[in-house]
Amino acid sequence: MKQKSLDELKKVCDSCQKCPLWETRTNVVFGSGNANAKILFIGEAPGAHEDEQGLPFVGASGKLLDKYLDAIGLSREDAYIANILKCRPPNNRDPKPEEEEQCIGYLREQLKIINPTVIVCLGRISAFKIIKPDFKITQEHGKWFKKGDYLITAVYHPSALLRDPRKRDDMMRDFLIIKDKIDELSK
Ligand code: URA
Repeated sequence: MKQKSLDELKKVCDSCQKCPLWETRTNVVFGSGNANAKILFIGEAPGAHEDEQGLPFVGASGKLLDKYLDAIGLSREDAYIANILKCRPPNNRDPKPEEEEQCIGYLREQLKIINPTVIVCLGRISAFKIIKPDFKITQEHGKWFKKGDYLITAVYHPSALLRDPRKRDDMMRDFLIIKDKIDELSK
């Protein structure tokens, strides 16, 4: 049921021309994972590998994300992974506000369909858009925010850990906090 609604939304998204990114994309990266997931991760935008394959987080940062998921006993089949933008910005530049505005409706629909209990923003760009525009990733990662029915937290973007491995301890701590929250909610 949920999968069918996601498939229908994906079809609409696949032919989207709302912003100019459609002209340079190879594939729309709609999102992937379990339509019934209790946990949903939101990244920033597809990179080159994602654009090529049409799937989120399949490059180096995705491999790192998989390790943290594994460390708390989750696999991609337990979660859903999407991005703020569904198309790759050229040269991996930051998303433009107008691109985010045009694209965010698809993510809102995905959230409505999947209805996760926990949302995890991957990186500050996602946290700015989903939690608050003045989110401070170094001070507020791993903290919980309540918005409507959703419990939301943000962690460092995995690519930030590739650039600065000193952040890895914080990331592990945050993932354990996420695991505790999921366990607490499923009691
Ligand atoms: N970075 C993101 O934010 N999203 C992806 O899908 C890949 C890399």
